[in-house]
Amino acid sequence: PTPSMHMLCHQAPVIPVLVIKDLAHAVPLAEALVAGGLPVLEVTLRSAVALQAISLMVRVPGATIGAGTVLNPKQAREAKQAGATFAVSPGATPPVIDCCEDLDLPLLPGAASATEVMHLLDRGFDLMKFFPAAAAGGLAALRAFGAPLPQVHFCPAGGLSQENARDYLALANVACVGGSWVAPAQMIIEERWGEIRQLAHQARQLGNH
Ligand code: 3PG
Repeated sequence: PTPSMHMLCHQAPVIPVLVIKDLAHAVPLAEALVAGGLPVLEVTLRSAVALQAISLMVRVPGATIGAGTVLNPKQAREAKQAGATFAVSPGATPPVIDCCEDLDLPLLPGAASATEVMHLLDRGFDLMKFFPAAAAGGLAALRAFGAPLPQVHFCPAGGLSQENARDYLALANVACVGGSWVAPAQMIIEERWGEIRQLAHQARQLGNH
């Protein structure tokens, strides 16, 4: 059965946002993050090898792999074909939403304003990515959404860190957070898997609430 986005967002406090440029990094990176306690991973479709990376990472025991930066139906179909369990988009368009529905691919669509949240509510979403979180108003914006839109939960991403994630996770309308800080580009390039496992472990300790 297809897991719901709600279930996926409650697996861990942080969904690592990954940019994988070398296919050889895909499996050890996923293994390090899972070992550190972060099983749900977002592989962004921003690199040439991203789809191949997803198809390798889905076989890592304990890992649940989603495709991030899904901007159009073609990418949604490719993500599904590669084995992705879910899709994440920085925003939301009717074609992407329709396509993910057709594919039975859970989607975490992005919203940054009340109008965007309302459009997604109309489409049946009550869990969405808040992007770009820090730039679009951060904690204050999320807290303010909670008054007129208390039924909506968010996964804020964009500008989060180990230091500020705890404050986001403390909000009643935050289900989990997304961020690249647990897998910094330089650490991936240098294959420092032990340090990435440590960063994941620290992020896991943030707790969902
Ligand atoms: C995303 O796609 O969610 C963002 O690029 C993640 O933002 P960050 O790199 O600031 O964590």
